[in-house]
Amino acid sequence: MQDAMATSGLSLEALYTSFTCGSLRLANRFVMSPMTRDMSPGNLLNPEAPAYYARRAAGGCALVVTEGTAIPHPVAHATSTIPNFYGDSLAGWQETARAVHANGGAIFAQLWHTGLYRSREETLNPQMPSIAPSAIGEAPVRVMTEEDIADVIDAYATAAANARSIGFDGIEIHGAHGYLPDQFFWPPTNKRADRYGGPIENRVRFAVEMVAEIRRRTAPDFPIMFRFSQWKGLKFDAKVARDPTELEAWLCPLADAGVDIFDASTRRFWVPEFEGSDMNLAGWAKRVTGKASMTVGSVGLESPLHVGKVSESNGVEVSTENLSRLVQMFERGDFDLVALGRIILSNPDWPTLVRQERFDAIRPYDPAIVAARLECAAA
Ligand SMILES: Cc1cc2nc3c(=O)[nH]c(=O)nc-3n(C[C@H](O)[C@H](O)[C@H](O)COP(=O)(O)O)c2cc1C
Repeated sequence: MQDAMATSGLSLEALYTSFTCGSLRLANRFVMSPMTRDMSPGNLLNPEAPAYYARRAAGGCALVVTEGTAIPHPVAHATSTIPNFYGDSLAGWQETARAVHANGGAIFAQLWHTGLYRSREETLNPQMPSIAPSAIGEAPVRVMTEEDIADVIDAYATAAANARSIGFDGIEIHGAHGYLPDQFFWPPTNKRADRYGGPIENRVRFAVEMVAEIRRRTAPDFPIMFRFSQWKGLKFDAKVARDPTELEAWLCPLADAGVDIFDASTRRFWVPEFEGSDMNLAGWAKRVTGKASMTVGSVGLESPLHVGKVSESNGVEVSTENLSRLVQMFERGDFDLVALGRIILSNPDWPTLVRQERFDAIRPYDPAIVAARLECAAA
């Protein structure tokens, strides 16, 4: 497998070129994908976070996207170990930004509200019901009023403004995987009959208003990245857009509101999204919006992400074969950035190892290492 890469004569150098977007300048195209570590007790950022993220920047990720962080809203949190992006955690985030910058990287905060998917037992304010576009499932849920919508949008914008003021280079809205913005997008979790439900132009309104408010409260050149996905939670065959026209109706209003980069979350980057073309979701996002896009999903790995507890997930072997396909797709202009998930947890310096063709030094993804201390992931 590694020989295939070494003898193919295909160069990955195209991925080590600079990228610019608004005030953002990146040295190459590799990005650390957002990954929850559940290691910040009391929602206070783990003190090892600055070193953990700085190591990925030093290892060649030009941009680090943080783990999902809770916006300042009482029922945003998935669990009690998700770091806040407000209050006492901000000093740690500021130190993290400094450490990443000192190692040549840029950093975005991933802003997260879980909506329906909040751990009821182990989270902040367990006595309060979760909020969501519609009451789905068995746990107590309050259907969001227009006032709730305004409050949550304000919380996202406050977190984004905080990110900018403590030196972050941009933010990513977690609008994927079935979390709050995605609960508005996807008809099975949005049964509303008001201006936030029904046709896609209504289902996208919550996220559009949020992006516009973030733009208003930050700066015209402050990069806003938006993560979206067709798949939801454990439902890997879910679809919000069945064809490019539906994708356009979903993403273009977000682009018009101020999104600069679309992070198209897929589990295998090489899988075509729609019939009749071999382009993936990131390719289509770029094509229909004209904005930059980022691809993700099993880059450098043999098999895709299985959603669930890290401690219960399987180890995954290294693959260098799919890198040839990655660079082909990149060179024909399908996407601008490449996100690395599990491979960067087990190999903080993966972009450097690959550039130096030190393929034998790459370690498989081992959930046992990931489940250990934060900074020591893949020590
Ligand atoms: C341990 C772990 C935690 C994750 N947490 C998040 C998260 O907080 N936010 C998010 O958008 N995606 C999250 N993801 C998904 C990754 O960002 C990425 O999209 C996924 O792992 C696919 O990339 P990979 O195949 O390179 O691992 C997580 C993945 C893993 C393995």
